[in-house]
Amino acid sequence: MYFYNSLKSTSKKKDTFPVSILKVARMGHPILKQVADVVPTDFFGTSQFQQLVEDMVETMEEYSGAGLAAPQVHESWQISVIEVKDNPRYPKANEIPLLVLVNPVITPLTTEKKLGWEGCLSLPGLRGAVPRFTKIHVKAQDQNGAPLDFVADGFKAIVIQHETDHLFGTVFIERMENMKLLYFEREWDRYSEQLPQIPVID
Ligand code: NI
Repeated sequence: MYFYNSLKSTSKKKDTFPVSILKVARMGHPILKQVADVVPTDFFGTSQFQQLVEDMVETMEEYSGAGLAAPQVHESWQISVIEVKDNPRYPKANEIPLLVLVNPVITPLTTEKKLGWEGCLSLPGLRGAVPRFTKIHVKAQDQNGAPLDFVADGFKAIVIQHETDHLFGTVFIERMENMKLLYFEREWDRYSEQLPQIPVID
């Protein structure tokens, strides 16, 4: 059985029950290269599981992530949380209400991929253009274990593919096809007007 024993620092942001900002694993940590374990049915509904999900949401918000996967907080389970709302890292992105994806399975609904700029809390300070499927079918479970089945496109499809990659040991730069499109954020900000038009990859 699973015990949730990560190092924690108690947050005072929410007063309903204690939530924690978790330490984020950075690229190179072995846990980011592993395939995470499927969450078993009897794990849903446990306080350990609910606490992990709440702490992941808190950590994502603290660091202004658009999403966070459990391996990024040193928990090798197939869980990711996604949320975009007034995000300073992604000021032009459409809002995505909080989405908890457990045991996700993604099927592309098109062969078309487009390049989009991505960052990652496990690769702090970097931004790169990554080709992603433009439309995907997602099957998963929510944080109560209920089935989810939906189609995603646009920025939401990009974030889901990025986070699901984490559950299978992959970080975004491993998906890049042109490493000249990898920048530090400061240089990206400074030179973005000079960047090449991001091409569509068919
Ligand atoms: Ni990431």
